[in-house]
Amino acid sequence: MPLVTTERMLMNAQKGGYAVGAFNVENLEMVQAVVEVAEELESPVILQTSAKTVKYARFPYLYALVKAAADSVSVPVALHLDHGNSFELAMQALRAGYTSIMIDGSHESFEKNLELSKKVVEACAPSRVPVEAELGKVGGKEDDIDGGKGGLTDPLEAKEFVERTQVSSLAVAIGTAHGVYKGEPKLDLDLLSRIRELVEVPLVLHGGSGLAEETIKECIKRGICKVNYATELRIAFTEGVKQVLSEKTNIIDPKIFSAVGREKVKQIVLEKIQICGSAGNA
Ligand code: G3H
Ligand code: ZN
Repeated sequence: MPLVTTERMLMNAQKGGYAVGAFNVENLEMVQAVVEVAEELESPVILQTSAKTVKYARFPYLYALVKAAADSVSVPVALHLDHGNSFELAMQALRAGYTSIMIDGSHESFEKNLELSKKVVEACAPSRVPVEAELGKVGGKEDDIDGGKGGLTDPLEAKEFVERTQVSSLAVAIGTAHGVYKGEPKLDLDLLSRIRELVEVPLVLHGGSGLAEETIKECIKRGICKVNYATELRIAFTEGVKQVLSEKTNIIDPKIFSAVGREKVKQIVLEKIQICGSAGNA
């Protein structure tokens, strides 16, 4: 079916008590892997691209790839800009046909973040494209995103931020981090519940890779409707490719090792969609 926005997808998730997996994709095989598994599991799904991936592959290529994938399946597929780092980039995504946009002003002051997010919401409103913003800082480092040590989301600030910006969803900082966790992540689940009590829009969890299944399920119970996964997919694809090339050093056909990378990504996506509880909710 044609690409859909994340609006209804996330509202349905909120009502149904599950989350939609949002998977960072970087090439054809990752796009195919995510969409094929979503179709098999009859699950809605979000494919997203970071600013760095956009810089590498360009919007028209990424849009065309994901659109072709969405058209080939019957489940709802949305294309989301992940961690958009400027108003200009957000507008480029909108013009390119992205059906959901994140503007990440979390490195700015509260007021500047609010002003930037509001500006993007207003610009996206005529096209009815939903906007995700971030308040507080998700820690760790990935691509060009450096949350440093992070700073958790303040519930009262979150309430004010959502009311004044009218964002459709909010990424919260409750102790998760991007990239590979060093040690056991300590999440402030009570903080998540307090944010949920004050904020009505769907909440987003970044830094999904490496979190325990029970932790993600508990976050979903407490109000998370979208879970972002990037690092585990990258590792899976690369490990698959490395495995083939180390076993058969004479291979020169990229299709052979890329297909193995695709299978490895499929295994991860299958596991994550099941954890999110979105299977059967297409
Ligand atoms: O925005 C993308 C993510 O938050 C992914 O985090 O690489 O730790 O899975 P991750
Ligand atoms: Zn993130």
